[in-house]
Amino acid sequence: YGDASQKIDYVFKVVLIGDSAVGKSQILARFSRNEFSLDSKATIGVEFQTRTLLIHHKSVKAQIWDTAGQERYRAVTSAYYRGAVGAMLVYDITKRQSFDHIPRWLEELRSHADKNIVIILIGNKSDLEDQRDVPIEDAKEFAQKEGLFFLETSALESTNVETAFLTVLTEIF
Ligand code: GTP
Ligand code: MG
Repeated sequence: YGDASQKIDYVFKVVLIGDSAVGKSQILARFSRNEFSLDSKATIGVEFQTRTLLIHHKSVKAQIWDTAGQERYRAVTSAYYRGAVGAMLVYDITKRQSFDHIPRWLEELRSHADKNIVIILIGNKSDLEDQRDVPIEDAKEFAQKEGLFFLETSALESTNVETAFLTVLTEIF
């Protein structure tokens, strides 16, 4: 892929979901601006960023939507999912609870989004291996059972963030 800011062939909306503090906003900051912040604030409402890439010789504008993991800061659910063709379901590999909540997020996603939406399960913070609380095998098994793509990422170290977005965008394409 490469950068292609001239003409846009496709616009793909991708949504980020998962518990608060799993790193959704930092995954987006890494992908869209190659930035990372350790003192990231909880998201309130909805934010989005775009980045245009070349996929199979077409310029694809990825419009990535990011919302609050915290219920009280969340925006209207149906509007958030409307038109989304990809979704990233994020948990934190050091927080078992964030993984245990994934079925709920998946249920919300499946009840509001298009049935053909491409979904990737993401175990973020892979740099914190010494604090791991979710075995990679548990996540792989869940992803396989539910028919999801799966990757572990680190927004901090920039591991697999690019690959995760490209997996979703290429599959949508
Ligand atoms: P909400 O907006 O409340 O839903 O949270 P969020 O999922 O957007 O989390 P956010 O991106 O704000 O990150 C939460 C905390 O985790 C911040 O302190 C980040 O710096 C940190 N963080 C995010 N990604 C990583 C990562 O890959 N590794 C490490 N070590 N920390 C990370
Ligand atoms: Mg956030």
